[in-house]
Amino acid sequence: MHYLPGWGNHHASEAVAGALPVGRNSPQHVPFGLYAEQLSGTAFTAPRHDNRRSWLYRMRPSAGHPPFRPYGRDTLIVAGQVDTPNRLRWNPLPAAGAGVDFVDGLVTVASNGDIGAGTGCAVHLYAASASMVDRAFFSADGEMLILPQQGRLRIVTEMGVLEVAPLQVALIPRGVRFRVELPDGAARGYVCENHGALFRLPDLGPIGSNGLANARDFEAPVAAFEDVERPTRIVQKYGGTLWESELDHSPFDVVAWHGNLTPCRYDLTRFNTIGTVSYDHPDPSIFTVLTSPSDTPGTANVDFVIFPPRWMVAEDTFRPPWFHRNVMSEYMGLIHGQYDAKAGGFAPGGGSLHNNMSGHGPDVDSWRKAVDAVLSPHKIEESMAFMIESRMAFRPTRWAMETPLLQADYDACWQGFPKARLP
Ligand SMILES: [Fe+2]
Repeated sequence: MHYLPGWGNHHASEAVAGALPVGRNSPQHVPFGLYAEQLSGTAFTAPRHDNRRSWLYRMRPSAGHPPFRPYGRDTLIVAGQVDTPNRLRWNPLPAAGAGVDFVDGLVTVASNGDIGAGTGCAVHLYAASASMVDRAFFSADGEMLILPQQGRLRIVTEMGVLEVAPLQVALIPRGVRFRVELPDGAARGYVCENHGALFRLPDLGPIGSNGLANARDFEAPVAAFEDVERPTRIVQKYGGTLWESELDHSPFDVVAWHGNLTPCRYDLTRFNTIGTVSYDHPDPSIFTVLTSPSDTPGTANVDFVIFPPRWMVAEDTFRPPWFHRNVMSEYMGLIHGQYDAKAGGFAPGGGSLHNNMSGHGPDVDSWRKAVDAVLSPHKIEESMAFMIESRMAFRPTRWAMETPLLQADYDACWQGFPKARLP
């Protein structure tokens, strides 16, 4: 398996020597009779430093398909339906039953914004037991950031193959067809589907030219194709619902490509974590891996933030996340280990939702441990929590509000704090 390093780089890759046109994107005669097709991730006229697009050279144009019709199977992919100010926490999804692939194993927890207007995001979970066979999926609604929590994924895309394990993430551009195979059998994880501006690396400001997620550590796949003439169901997410159509061939017939819009993977353990070396600790924005900006400077449509292993060395400091009420809304998940603001109840594979202005922070046990602690240097190890933070409040789905996975007693973790004693 080969990868091309670098975030958003202009890459070129060909699976057959001589397949990639040189000097022209769409010559009159593409080598071998391939079809040239542009895939855009931004408007044609987006500023050069934001502009993302790739040219795909394929055996047939992707336009050749019958009409899409509503998806014929049960699905739990639905738009958000409920406004709630309450703090919510869920237990992990149980293992999928037999024969459930990635598409049928997707369930939406919450979403926000407006897909048609290109704002907001959706948070999905997946639990799958079977590889997709003769099926392909894509989202017309946004790019998909896939976070395996259990089990590796082998993601076959139009532009090549990504192998992604827990503690790695994959980012699939809007519209790119993909097929998820499960080399380990059962798999479980999270998906953040971003309907807004494309994810990008955050600016580093005074941090300087290195740090956080480094551009070189993002890996795009090399071109790979399959010449398969077998019926393939193609499922797309459009407008928050699933549609399907059928091809008489594999859609993974891109022989060569070039451009700066590609699937990619990133290993979260390569994140260069930065924090205080004196007192207090910075806002969690210091842990931003990728950001989707909104039209308001500094106010993200959605941020992808991680809480990786790191040294805690500050003095006279409350070390876990402090109590806060945030104008941004926060969905949190846990890949493995334990999160330092909760003594229990937040399990790997589970999730929590704190919408704007909901008071939250450490539970009583974590608070007491933090105020009683001797503040010698301490390393948080074997833990990887993440946050999907958005300027728009999340609307949980009906499934999320009715599932028995929803914890009825979440509020109790903030009961029992002793009252302050005034002089
Ligand atoms: Fe928070």
